[in-house]
Amino acid sequence: MPHQLPSSTFCPPNLTYFAPQNSIIILAARLREFHYTTKDTIASLTPLLQPHKADFVTDSFFSQLFMNPLTPLLHLVGSGITAYLLASQIRDAQTRPNVLAGFYFAESGSVPFLTKLRDRAQADGDLWLAEQLTQHANDERRHGQIFANALKQLGKEAITPENTADAATVNADKKEQKSPFFDAYYRYYSQAELKPDVIDWRVFLGSTHILEADACPDFRRMAQALEGVPGMEKIQAGILSVSADEARHAGYLKVAMQRRYGYVATESLINEWRSRKVDALMAMVGNLIERRGAMRTLAQDRVETTPVEPVGEDAKILTAA
Ligand SMILES: [Fe+2]
Ligand SMILES: [Fe+2]
Repeated sequence: MPHQLPSSTFCPPNLTYFAPQNSIIILAARLREFHYTTKDTIASLTPLLQPHKADFVTDSFFSQLFMNPLTPLLHLVGSGITAYLLASQIRDAQTRPNVLAGFYFAESGSVPFLTKLRDRAQADGDLWLAEQLTQHANDERRHGQIFANALKQLGKEAITPENTADAATVNADKKEQKSPFFDAYYRYYSQAELKPDVIDWRVFLGSTHILEADACPDFRRMAQALEGVPGMEKIQAGILSVSADEARHAGYLKVAMQRRYGYVATESLINEWRSRKVDALMAMVGNLIERRGAMRTLAQDRVETTPVEPVGEDAKILTAA
């Protein structure tokens, strides 16, 4: 009689889903080790070269010159891994609500931050930026609504302290929850320095530009992953419209940097945040390995009958069902 492993521990029931995902995570782990070895090598060479730099060359420009040459390659590989994981999770009916709830929180959670920045830009007299930020905040609010409506279509809703009996646990989870991605992305910046009333505009514009620029293809790939999945046409259309907005956000943030700091400094900022994004992706993959791919539960069966308010054309598409 063949030896049988306990199916719940070593042999997940859905092997076709887990097996390729594990291979990708192992590949990512190797890549992560390679990435940090290369970074250490470059860091050890930099002090040898530092004394020869001319006075007019800034630290930022200097570090950019010696930026990890693997960054563009690692960016491509990291984006590929993210795209693969997102695509497989949104195609899987079991993990789909969690992905949608994650984006609901991310999109709607950025609205108060952007609104405060809008007020600050207005107070600074930068009316052009204030106008762009107003539009940006409105778009993110609408994106949050699109994901809320997508969850509703699946009979689900995001778990918030208001709609769960265990509000204390949700609040405690939120407090304890640390994001390895954002910790690495904003490394050396304290929480206090990242608040909207004090954040350095270069940090906000550079970091958000990269996140928005990458969100555009990520959402597009997610929408493509739903191709052929029955009943997903409306959710797919909503995600595609989000993708188009993210491209516009990336565009205005780059123009905002160019207006304030000029072409060279903008390119330098973009390179710095691109490099930080690669570090952050690697940190996220590392965390995923430690947690063996487990995700916190963000969605539950819909318990309220209150309709989700439709916002804009895309929300109309999603609530038409
Ligand atoms: Fe968005
Ligand atoms: Fe956006």
